[in-house]
Amino acid sequence: MACMGESMNNENILKFINNHLSEKRYNHCISVADEAVKLAKKYNADEEKAYITGLLHDICKDNTKIQMLQIIEKSDIMLSDVEKNVEKLLHAIAGAEIAQKELDIKDNDILNAIRYHTTGRAGMSALEKVIYIADFISADRDYEGVDELRKAASVSMEEVMVQAIIFVIKDRLESKVAIHPDALMAYNEAVINWRLNNV
Ligand SMILES: [Fe+2]
Ligand SMILES: [Fe+2]
Repeated sequence: MACMGESMNNENILKFINNHLSEKRYNHCISVADEAVKLAKKYNADEEKAYITGLLHDICKDNTKIQMLQIIEKSDIMLSDVEKNVEKLLHAIAGAEIAQKELDIKDNDILNAIRYHTTGRAGMSALEKVIYIADFISADRDYEGVDELRKAASVSMEEVMVQAIIFVIKDRLESKVAIHPDALMAYNEAVINWRLNNV
């Protein structure tokens, strides 16, 4: 596959993630990248960007909370109370910063797809949806319910978006974890779209 810029090709990205992630996480990122290419083909997103974003989406997931906060502090991002409270959200925000600053990724669609891969948001691009869903259904995933989501992904992007967001929000409610407003906005948009075609 072609590279995004002269300084950063896929081989360098693979080296970078290999240096920053555990073996398990590295394999997860390869699986997400492979799944993202398939979904991009099916749902008209850019396959090359899907591959790169899949590789990079969890680039900060093995960082400590302090490291992630330091990365975010150096940017001009102000964390909300929910983001400060839910550690899981930090790796997506810090990851987009690292992709931009250390890997010189300039493409906003890629950076947004990394940043919003955990929460989703309203107005997601085709690439953002592809990464959000690839992260749920990649070959390495084996949680209860993954087969239903895989089936939904084979039906339509609308169908799988609704089901995936419901899956996450239910999990947050059951675990008594704060729900990011972007996730609720993503849910409302997805369910409104879904109802237009299904009710
Ligand atoms: Fe993630
Ligand atoms: Fe992931």
